[in-house]
Amino acid sequence: MTDDSIDIATLQQRAKTQQEIEGAITQMFAPEDEGLRQALITAKEAGLPQIQISPIQGKLLQLLATTCQARTILEIGSLAGYSAIWLARGLPAGGRLITLEINPLHAEIVRQSFVRADVGDRAEVRVGNALELLPQLEKEGPFDLVFIDADKPAYPQYLDWALRLTHPGSIIVADNCIRSGEALREPEQVGDEGTAALAEYNKRIVNNPRLLSLALAMDDDYMDGFTIAVVLPESKER
Ligand code: DHB
Ligand code: MG
Repeated sequence: MTDDSIDIATLQQRAKTQQEIEGAITQMFAPEDEGLRQALITAKEAGLPQIQISPIQGKLLQLLATTCQARTILEIGSLAGYSAIWLARGLPAGGRLITLEINPLHAEIVRQSFVRADVGDRAEVRVGNALELLPQLEKEGPFDLVFIDADKPAYPQYLDWALRLTHPGSIIVADNCIRSGEALREPEQVGDEGTAALAEYNKRIVNNPRLLSLALAMDDDYMDGFTIAVVLPESKER
């Protein structure tokens, strides 16, 4: 049977199985503890948008931080602090995470969530426009991992900064790089400004010989996801 001849019942069954698999993986490999759960509850009560990454994505961030033996992590866009908590848990003792947040009220909520999740000693929120805060970070870098999850139109600029603030072996992850496939098109063919910037981001990482990268459709309905890029050593540039 080819895909175009699949009936609705089969598609529904497949969607249900996919959901069950997602649930089972989450329960088995990425269960949320009280700190993560509380971060989401507090953010919801404060009226923050509920657009955080999934637990599986959180666990992947923790796994990547651990893989590259990250001691310094930079996050652009804190939202609820949920992803930062996962990332901070991939840091060794003495490691450090800095997350940039434009909204001072959100930043205060994130600070409280860090303390409750027991990462207050290693995770710090800085308040302001990321494009203004990033130049100040040059003396605090380089960073072993950068996670970009902020305003979409500025993604290409965030990539420039991520490249400046990292070293060979660093990992640069960006959220929302699929957008139902729209962000995989040629940027000029994409109408929405934010999505066009995501498409531009993807094009730049693919064409940058210093990076080895991949997009993964992996949010809870496989319509969006991360790109993951590794900064190559000079000898391995493509
Ligand atoms: C949306 C989702 C995100 O993860 C984000 O960072 C911004 C917006 C959204 O679905 O609108
Ligand atoms: Mg996001």
